[in-house]
Amino acid sequence: MSATIRIDNLNHWFNRSEPPVLQDIFVAVQAGQSLALVGESGCGKSTLLNMIAGMIRPTVGTIHIGQNRVLGPRPEWNIMFQHAALYPWLNVVDNVALGLEFAGVGKARRTTAMDMLDRVGLLDKARSRPRDLSGGQQQRVALARSLVMSPSVLLLDEPFSALDTFTRTDLQDEVLGIVAEQGISLVQVTHDLDEAIIMGDRIGVMERSPGRIHALVDNQMNGPRRPGMRGFAEMRDELLAAFGRARRNPSTPVRSTPTDPIELEPEYS
Ligand SMILES: Nc1ncnc2c1ncn2[C@@H]1O[C@H](COP(=O)(O)OP(=O)(O)OP(=O)(O)O)[C@@H](O)[C@H]1O
Ligand SMILES: [Mg+2]
Repeated sequence: MSATIRIDNLNHWFNRSEPPVLQDIFVAVQAGQSLALVGESGCGKSTLLNMIAGMIRPTVGTIHIGQNRVLGPRPEWNIMFQHAALYPWLNVVDNVALGLEFAGVGKARRTTAMDMLDRVGLLDKARSRPRDLSGGQQQRVALARSLVMSPSVLLLDEPFSALDTFTRTDLQDEVLGIVAEQGISLVQVTHDLDEAIIMGDRIGVMERSPGRIHALVDNQMNGPRRPGMRGFAEMRDELLAAFGRARRNPSTPVRSTPTDPIELEPEYS
């Protein structure tokens, strides 16, 4: 199940006496595609991601996922954070199955959760408590918990940043594999340009204060993308240059609209 994400004319203020935290954001992510967002600390990446997840309402502008305007969270729009935030009193499989339980799934939820744990290589930890797992394993559980809900949209806020290179590479591969298989639309925030190139079919470079999309770069490399591959270093240079420009001379923000018109639901707010 996949869905287009479309952000139109989004502007946001937390404090009206300050510049907008986000300004003039127009971005579309085609169904089943991925967008990586990079930018200086404080440029509004997490705020934008939380808005796509329906957890913060923008002051101005709209976000649509498929035909639905985002007005609050939904189980099929899944967000994953830097820290796994598992329930310490539940074992691993129950943590993974919890969302399904809330969604009213009966006994089948355990089997589904075990299947997903198998997929992320943690079947043998199903009965463990989160505290007995390494950081990387906890993030795998969080990933399983996200994916078990069969999301149409997966939003990742630097979930791999605390992990060692090997664990991070494994998890990137796992996410990309599952996302491709299930046609999930992905938006990933990262500080790491290599990660952006690996994960993003498109890469948005943001500038700060106000937070805007300074450049949107189409990733010409087809997956699986690896540092050292032909084109990777050039891509990194291009992003670094855009990053530098975003810091020095903030410019007219980029507008990117989807190629296909989307039929929208009437607004109900
Ligand atoms: N709930 C809030 N109330 C007021 N200001 C906020 C709130 N959340 C974020 N901000 C401010 O909005 C700006 C953008 O924050 P955000 O967390 O989106 O940045 P970020 O790009 O994710 O940064 P980082 O890379 O450090 O995670 C910051 O100046 C931050 O202080
Ligand atoms: Mg952030």
